[in-house]
Amino acid sequence: MQDLTPGPAARARFPIFEHTTYANSCSQGALSLDVRRAYEEYLAGWDEHGAEWEHWVQRAEAARSAFARLVGAAAEEIAVTTSVSQAVSALVSALPLERGRNRIVISEFEFPTVGQIAHAQELRGAEIVHVRPASDGRIPLELFAEAIDEHTALVCCTAISYRTGYRLDVPGVARLARESGALVLADSYQAAGAVPLDVRALGVDLLTAGTVKYLLASAGLAFMYVRCDLHERLLPTQTGWFADEDIFRMDISDYSPSDTARRFDSGTPPVPNIYAGIAGMGIVESAGVGAIEAHVAGLVDRLLAGLAEVDAHVATPTGSGELGPLVCVTSSDPDALVRALAGERIVTSSRDANLRISLHLYNVEEDVDRIVDALSRHRHLLT
Ligand SMILES: Cc1ncc(COP(=O)(O)O)c(C=O)c1O
Repeated sequence: MQDLTPGPAARARFPIFEHTTYANSCSQGALSLDVRRAYEEYLAGWDEHGAEWEHWVQRAEAARSAFARLVGAAAEEIAVTTSVSQAVSALVSALPLERGRNRIVISEFEFPTVGQIAHAQELRGAEIVHVRPASDGRIPLELFAEAIDEHTALVCCTAISYRTGYRLDVPGVARLARESGALVLADSYQAAGAVPLDVRALGVDLLTAGTVKYLLASAGLAFMYVRCDLHERLLPTQTGWFADEDIFRMDISDYSPSDTARRFDSGTPPVPNIYAGIAGMGIVESAGVGAIEAHVAGLVDRLLAGLAEVDAHVATPTGSGELGPLVCVTSSDPDALVRALAGERIVTSSRDANLRISLHLYNVEEDVDRIVDALSRHRHLLT
């Protein structure tokens, strides 16, 4: 077994670091030797055996179990989907949105897909309530409390904001939702693989994430946790044959979905992405999410100290428990700053008026120092 201790040992599995300082895991995790090999294995099996359907379906189940372990759930509580969008669309299709309980509360930090899917439900009579952050970039629980009431069917919150890196008090939001009899969904795409997630400790009913970012794989694979006692109650009308109680019965006489979270699956599973996803999640599991979080927290501290020295304004709230792997810095021209850094082979990204710097198990102190050095040279693009 490879040594995947966060830092230099893990970094050796990611060839990009031979020539580039990669700090863009919030957008796409770096490619590892393991994920490349997983794709090759998929192609070799296809080439050798033709249609390996039995094996491919087993791989989908292995991915379901791997994600379940990452979030402290049972495999029966996990849906395998091609995107968070597909998962959330299936979920909202299962909400009755009956009179008196037709509100969907969304935070302003939701990824566009969640906000857009919520607003699409207006066509079915839903009312969408936005929870906007305070001027300091935080969303205190009081703001959720004002928005959630006995008319709320679903509360959508985001564990870590893709826009600012702000880490929300998800257990607090879940508590408020529960008190009002509403379901709570925590979109944890920016958290999975970077910070420990335990669905029971979070108290959420639903949780989504995909493999593109800190789970270190590629596009086309996502998951949704659905708490076991909700399966019977939530009957999705957006569905597909892989959600059926007996996939291979090929029965078109009725709708009889699985009695597990698999009822939120859809069509043919995304087999190549599943190979990659298992490899990516395998790295995270072997390294240990707790060890990754601790390693990255050390790098983030160093980054914040460096940013203070170059007088950069940090947009991410930095209170206790508010930081994850993503630190955002305000810029007068974030796109120009991303380009300037790219010119020095430092890969970052931007959202709104912010430069996004995100760190993962493969980053080391020298990466942080290179980024801070480069920012001091491009100080004119900071605000
Ligand atoms: C918080 C969050 N949610 C969802 C997504 C993507 O969703 P989907 O899998 O539907 O593309 C992203 C991707 O950038 C994200 O950052």
